Amino acid sequence: MLSEDEYLKKYGLKRNPFDKISAESMTADEIVKMHVVTAADKKIASNLSTILNGGSATVALIGEYGSGKSIRASSIIETLKRKDALIFYTKLPGGTPGIVTYALFESVCIPLMNKDVPEDLRKAAEDLWENYREIASMPEAKFKPYEAGKDLAKLFKKIAEHDIISGLVIDEFEEIIEASIQREIRKTFEILREYLSHAVGISGHITVICSTPNAWASLKEIHPAVATRIHVEIVFKPVSDKIAIEITKKRLEAFRPTKPGSLDPFDEDVIKKVNKEYATGNPRMLLLVLRSILDVAAQNKATKVDFESVEGGVEFAREKLKDAQSERIKQILTPKMRDILELIISEKGGGPIVGTALSDELGMDQGNLSRYLNQMVALNFLNKNRDGRIVTFEIKPELKLIFAEELGLIADSAKE
Ligand SMILES: Nc1ncnc2c1ncn2[C@@H]1O[C@H](COP(=O)(O)OP(=O)(O)O)[C@@H](O)[C@H]1O
Ligand SMILES: [Mg+2]
Repeated sequence: MLSEDEYLKKYGLKRNPFDKISAESMTADEIVKMHVVTAADKKIASNLSTILNGGSATVALIGEYGSGKSIRASSIIETLKRKDALIFYTKLPGGTPGIVTYALFESVCIPLMNKDVPEDLRKAAEDLWENYREIASMPEAKFKPYEAGKDLAKLFKKIAEHDIISGLVIDEFEEIIEASIQREIRKTFEILREYLSHAVGISGHITVICSTPNAWASLKEIHPAVATRIHVEIVFKPVSDKIAIEITKKRLEAFRPTKPGSLDPFDEDVIKKVNKEYATGNPRMLLLVLRSILDVAAQNKATKVDFESVEGGVEFAREKLKDAQSERIKQILTPKMRDILELIISEKGGGPIVGTALSDELGMDQGNLSRYLNQMVALNFLNKNRDGRIVTFEIKPELKLIFAEELGLIADSAKE
């Protein structure tokens, strides 16, 4: 009897190539090796050459969770490091403006203080850190967000005076919106607005913000002046079947150098089916589902992945994802929101539904219902679509995949 790992070896694979899926779990080398160039990459490259030629750039990478923003952020950082740039990466937490500011200065000042840089830069970073390290516990009235933004921009200006390229990458921007109190968010965004209005004139400087489309739309509603200071928006659309096939090939190749360009044990039709029906063009979901399909195929000792092993694999992926999502639903959603989600899933086929139409069924007044629905959009459970004056809501594709049975999307023959 062959164990699963041994069977993977029969495919010529050292291990399951779809195991490491998040950008954080991959090294910069692995990211480069497995990357498939898309239209987004060309736009990013053109902005990088702008700043390498002494210009400045402000770029937003906008895409759903798993669309490939963080791997781009990582590639931008690697490219600029090779040009001896001082580039800083941060994921800002939600919370009070003080907490966000603390995290922002921490991720710039601390690395700068520890780098081999000209003395005046190190001094400037130390002074800034001295000023802002207590910011989270300072009385709110004493804290001036625009000064924080200006101070940060000044530091980058100093870096530019040394003819050093610099950059600030803010990943998972949605976290600020998801985890902050509405009332405080405006103040947080003022830091960014002020920083951005000064950053735009700094030679050789780039700001990159990675955000989900929902959070970016909220930003435009809450504080449009921040969004207008971002000059380039690069939107990640669902990947085509062709790109999906390329992504799969590169992954397999990285773990099976002996068979470059081979899709074995998959074939193009299988990848197309998975990309279209289950991943809906989302690279992370594609890899997640392929991982389970390969596991199941290896356990069953199948020589090739056919449509039947696809179904078994999807079922396995579904169970794993369901555990994680159920936990998230329990932790993040209030009981009222859970009622709404349950109704949309069990009785409305996942949507799209006109939000206000649920108010009778749920016994909630329209104003409250609409507030809950919008919060669930910001928390990434629902998508919101506007068609003229009609606003509809729909569950996210990942939830559709997970709750296929509850949604009546699985044919009876596919069940036990
Ligand atoms: N063009 C691409 N080529 C290769 N892999 C990709 C591509 N786009 C996305 N991926 C893969 O999808 C996964 C999710 O990407 P990630 O950057 O973490 O998404 P996001 O930050 O948008 O949530 C990663 O494993 C990444 O390797
Ligand atoms: Mg990411």
